Amino acid sequence: MTDRSAAQFNAHADRYATSEFHRAGPSLPVLLRLAAPTPGDHALDVATGTGNTALALAPFVQDVTGVDVADAMLAHARERATRERLNNATFRSGDAEALPFPDGTFTLVTSRHAPHHFVHLDHFLAEAWRVLRPGGRLVIADQVSPSPEVQAWTDTYQRLRDPSHHAQRPVQAWQALSAQAGFTWAAHKIVPYELPFDWWTAQSGCTPDTVAALRAHAATLDAAQQEAAGLILDEHGKLNAHREPMLVVRLEKPGR
Ligand SMILES: C[S@@+](CC[C@H](N)C(=O)[O-])C[C@H]1O[C@@H](n2cnc3c(N)ncnc32)[C@H](O)[C@@H]1O
Repeated sequence: MTDRSAAQFNAHADRYATSEFHRAGPSLPVLLRLAAPTPGDHALDVATGTGNTALALAPFVQDVTGVDVADAMLAHARERATRERLNNATFRSGDAEALPFPDGTFTLVTSRHAPHHFVHLDHFLAEAWRVLRPGGRLVIADQVSPSPEVQAWTDTYQRLRDPSHHAQRPVQAWQALSAQAGFTWAAHKIVPYELPFDWWTAQSGCTPDTVAALRAHAATLDAAQQEAAGLILDEHGKLNAHREPMLVVRLEKPGR
């Protein structure tokens, strides 16, 4: 699945890098507020992509490292760090489920709009725990399924559009897995997102056949199910947009 993510994001890195929506979408200020970065922080941004989150943290921390499996995304992150003279930001290749750092390297770990690509969320949480010092925090922003009932449908929908999507887990799953990993659930917020269908499909380079398959998948739901899945249709019943709630959560590793 990391190969699939690398292929997907290497192919669409240029489009991602210029997307204002990804660069500064509404989950980012919420993540920054919950992360509460300080000048002494050593931060790690996992699945950093073009560095949107790492570079937003950089002015507030001692240093920040971004890791990702897609080299073309990392190239954009490095180029932007240089352009914006953010000299305390570095970027390297690395897998969220096997982080290339010794134990206790960081005081803050973040991952935004990415864990839904991770196959084993428990491995990522264990790795974040390992690389954090005691007292450190892990701040996540990721799309969540509106309810466990529609998760299978939304995962198929998301995967048709982006084959590197793995699972849009409901909040309950996040709570259970982060508790299993040992984290304290300190605070969270659900940030509403509404994504126009034409923009969303163009952003990931969908072919006309994929667009048709997405519309056909939407038509498998009745009106109540479409509402539950967050689909927004026009007066002729044509799919216009969908809601994609983002969970932003601060998890804490106890200790000092
Ligand atoms: C939607 S982008 C999010 C980028 C960035 N976090 C942001 O805030 O804009 C998802 C990123 O996750 C990366 N990714 C997916 N699976 C990964 C994994 N297992 N390890 C590291 N990066 C991964 C992809 O290569 C891609 O760059």
